[in-house]
Amino acid sequence: MLQPAASAIVLYGRASFDKAQGLPAMAGRLAPTLPPGTRVAWAFADLTGPSLPDVLDALAAEGVREAIVVTCMVPADPTHATWLAGALSQWSADRGAQVAVRLAPAIEAALDLPAAIRDVLGRPAAEVTLTPPSLGKPGWSKIPEHGRQIFFCVGARCLHRGAEPLYQHLRNRMKQHRPLAAGPRRAMCARSSCLYPCNLGPLMIVYPDGHWYGGLTRDGIDRIVSDHLLSDRPVAEGIVHRTTADGAVGG
Ligand code: FES
Repeated sequence: MLQPAASAIVLYGRASFDKAQGLPAMAGRLAPTLPPGTRVAWAFADLTGPSLPDVLDALAAEGVREAIVVTCMVPADPTHATWLAGALSQWSADRGAQVAVRLAPAIEAALDLPAAIRDVLGRPAAEVTLTPPSLGKPGWSKIPEHGRQIFFCVGARCLHRGAEPLYQHLRNRMKQHRPLAAGPRRAMCARSSCLYPCNLGPLMIVYPDGHWYGGLTRDGIDRIVSDHLLSDRPVAEGIVHRTTADGAVGG
């Protein structure tokens, strides 16, 4: 019978950079170089999942006893020095310390960047004039008809509070209502990095109304879609702030 891995390495990177970084591929290359039975996983700090808490939850469910989180962002995100250890400690406290979590030093300190630059300079470089000049595709000049814009925070702190599955829930709910996809009631949805009041997350803002919704839940999102986006009745219980044209007012 397959034994559960006792320990795991979790590579933690930014989804926004992952096309170049290839975190899953990096995890695949790393796995054979580690002691047998060491699990290698990866998590993203922004934009999408899997989030770090979800990955740690999954490792705990697999029976992993110890996990080392390695931040793989270059340049390193300075907020990690002040925030990530506490957030991981919070995860440990919330879960009753099923997994001993440790945070490795920032990977940036171990990289030989000059050697990496010399390496790429020794390889063929692409001639840019072989690509037609353009600052954007023709369709990018047209602003689609819409009535609202939503900014949904998928910054690192909100992801720790479950923002990613909530964002997917919002998108799925919105897809069920055609008026929200086209025409004057269309709500254009954009994922955003940190919107600042992280302690109120998960968080989204609906413009031009200027309503900030905090502490989002699946039920709360269902009501925002049905009452606010479809019926123009903001959900008072979820509003943590309001921005108006003549200044910002609370709740
Ligand atoms: S991470 Fe969402 S408000 Fe800061």
